[in-house]
Amino acid sequence: MATFTRDTEIFRNEDMLREDYQPDSITAREDEISTYTAALQPIVNGAQPRNIFLYGKTGVGKTAVSRYLLKQLQRDTEQYDDVELSVCWLNCTNLSSSYQVAVNLVNQLRPADDQISTTGYPQQRVFDILYEELDQIGGTVLLVLDEIDHIGSDDEILYEIPRARSNGYLSKAKPGVIGISNDFGFRDDLSPKVKDTLCEEEIHFSPYNAPELRAILEERVAGAMYDDAVDDAVIALCAAIAAQDTGSARQALDILYKSGEIARTNSEKRLTEEHVHQAREKLEQSQVEHGMRELTKHGHLALVAMLQLAFEQETPARIRDVYPLYRRIAEGSNVDPLVRRRMHDHLADLAMLGILDRQMKNEGRAGGHYYQYEFDVDLDIVGDVVRDFDSIALPKGVTARIE
Ligand SMILES: Nc1ncnc2c1ncn2[C@@H]1O[C@H](COP(=O)(O)OP(=O)(O)OP(=O)(O)O)[C@@H](O)[C@H]1O
Ligand SMILES: [Mg+2]
Repeated sequence: MATFTRDTEIFRNEDMLREDYQPDSITAREDEISTYTAALQPIVNGAQPRNIFLYGKTGVGKTAVSRYLLKQLQRDTEQYDDVELSVCWLNCTNLSSSYQVAVNLVNQLRPADDQISTTGYPQQRVFDILYEELDQIGGTVLLVLDEIDHIGSDDEILYEIPRARSNGYLSKAKPGVIGISNDFGFRDDLSPKVKDTLCEEEIHFSPYNAPELRAILEERVAGAMYDDAVDDAVIALCAAIAAQDTGSARQALDILYKSGEIARTNSEKRLTEEHVHQAREKLEQSQVEHGMRELTKHGHLALVAMLQLAFEQETPARIRDVYPLYRRIAEGSNVDPLVRRRMHDHLADLAMLGILDRQMKNEGRAGGHYYQYEFDVDLDIVGDVVRDFDSIALPKGVTARIE
């Protein structure tokens, strides 16, 4: 018997459930699309584009709706000879300043063999090069800056570009900026002059409710999975879980995809509600695991100290028990230990991430109150993560248990 055979029962086209899949149609975003369309209308009329700022939590369709609508815009403006539209899409995830955004825009607009270096220019020079590129293209140029919150407070580019034309830096190009962010703090902290320009049109994307998520899943499942593999109850459950937790379509799709994988691994023909519950648990686990890996050095040291205590059955533990151990592990790993208060902040962070459970205790009239901590996740998972800490000298009591 063959080791590999093609899936004929669960997934018809599993690419449709992946993160990078761009749906042909958008479900349940009528209001946002109509506001967005109106904000883009000046472009169709050959006028200056407005600047648009989209915000809303993660997974609520900001990127998908933008891609969808800008594609329609490009298609529909082709019939007008006096509208020359170019769209330049930049994901700012790894860009922490206006300077870096400007360099990356230039390089996106230039051919591959004519890129500029990411360092070494004065900021104004990079802006000047960017304006030259924009004028070279001419017409309406929409710059979509997705995940723009990564530039933090270094947000100069967000009023430089929109004002470039009125400042006389551009003669042929009409630039428009579309900023997208899931960080509400970023929006609130934008400098007032940026707010005035960028947020000319603000569109808020709210979390999806269960019926909306169900509609999105149904639409996607029709192409992604075989008809007999999924029934309404399974879809409704995925939608309900995601609606209650985050309201994110990404989460709903991930749960469905994972449920399908579990069914496939078990050689079953249909997804069941049990698969969905398992999928949810697995996804939560990998999220927590990811959270642990992403911690700072001191977070990792705190984690190891807690793990040692847990192995010794000494949890729940107080900071006065964790701290000496943390110090010893830090020193053994050639890291300067933090003072107790700062180290306590790391335990509080671990609790916030759902890795530790934190309880406040009262010592009666005399003692005041204190916190105690214990793991809220499976120790095997913590062990898996800790095993990969190359630069921490793990205590023997820990290595013995995780090998
Ligand atoms: N209304 C919708 N109709 C169909 N699919 C959708 C809809 N909204 C979101 N999706 C799908 O859900 C996933 C997440 O959406 P998207 O990437 O647009 O979220 P986002 O708001 O940009 O999130 P983030 O802030 O994390 O970037 C994508 O796979 C997208 O295709
Ligand atoms: Mg996005």
